[in-house]
Amino acid sequence: MLAFWIISLINLKKIYIASDHAGFNLKNYILRKLNTKFNIMDLGTHNNSTSVNYPYYAHKLSKLVSANKSNIGILVCGSGLGMSMAANRHKKIRAALCYSVKNAKLSRLHNDANVITLGERLTNKNLAMKCVNTFLNTNFERGRHLKRVKRI
Ligand code: RB5
Repeated sequence: MLAFWIISLINLKKIYIASDHAGFNLKNYILRKLNTKFNIMDLGTHNNSTSVNYPYYAHKLSKLVSANKSNIGILVCGSGLGMSMAANRHKKIRAALCYSVKNAKLSRLHNDANVITLGERLTNKNLAMKCVNTFLNTNFERGRHLKRVKRI
């Protein structure tokens, strides 16, 4: 029984979230709205008065998400573009820039994305939150998609 709990704790799905200054408000909104059943860690940035570089946060989060297959990352910048470009340099990261509920769903179903990126300046917070919830509650379909994802 003890071993079971230790293994469960080690395998607990972790959600990491990070943003630059341009994604700071949306990051905070997502943190406030996210269901507390999730084990979520905020990697910064911690204010929007200092201009910071998005690749720093994308790489920091991507290293942590890469450590466990069930980990998920949420990255927010002004457009979502820079964060997705930087995160996708990591071998084990499949980062999807999401701007609709449909593409958030497909990124999980077909592409087994493990990081969602969002653009605070381009996507309103209600839609962004819907994307995040859809992303977190959709599982990879496997089947025909598995061989394709393996070839990425
Ligand atoms: C910062 O001004 C902005 O360039 C950044 O947040 C992001 O949109 C880059 O892709």
